[in-house]
Amino acid sequence: MHNFHIKLQALVLTSIYVSNERAKAVLGDVENLTEERVDEVLSQYLKDYKEGSWETKGWPAYLSAYQLSKAAMNSDTRILAKKYPGICINCVCPGYVKTDINYYTGILSVEEGAEGPVRLALLPHGGPSGLLFEQLEEEEF
Ligand SMILES: NC(=O)c1ccc[n+]([C@@H]2O[C@H](COP(=O)([O-])OP(=O)(O)OC[C@H]3O[C@@H](n4cnc5c(N)ncnc54)[C@H](OP(=O)(O)O)[C@@H]3O)[C@@H](O)[C@H]2O)c1
Repeated sequence: MHNFHIKLQALVLTSIYVSNERAKAVLGDVENLTEERVDEVLSQYLKDYKEGSWETKGWPAYLSAYQLSKAAMNSDTRILAKKYPGICINCVCPGYVKTDINYYTGILSVEEGAEGPVRLALLPHGGPSGLLFEQLEEEEF
């Protein structure tokens, strides 16, 4: 029986795509990340989005909500991995896969896209945790 928890992620590197200074400071402060602090960032994003000021305040201009949700998931992965050290908790971008989400414009088949997630699902106890993978490769957050 494998002990794992994976999240399907798009490759959103918080440090590159989110230039809002407060968000970068909170999400980049890995040691002090909490769910409350991530919620605070998302609430601020939502407020700025509703007010129409998200771009001028440094939130992603392209697929804004999607990218924020993925940046939050990066943080959530780190928080959960720290909270549950006995479980391998990672997130993985499957690559650009032909599915409903992109109207089948992807370049990988679903079988190819599943490779990374399946490999993480089969990690042995004591395997890597709290990391982000791009298909089979580890990425910097
Ligand atoms: N495909 C890619 O190129 C790609 C690249 C990077 C990351 N990803 C990530 O991979 C994950 C899966 O994407 P996919 O390509 O498999 O997309 P997909 O074919 O569109 O599948 C999305 C799935 O999410 C479910 N879903 C959507 N909204 C939901 C909601 N509010 N509550 C519960 N379930 C909901 C859908 O359920 P129904 O079928 O019932 O609507 C569907 O099963 C996503 O997180 C996506 O961001 C995909």
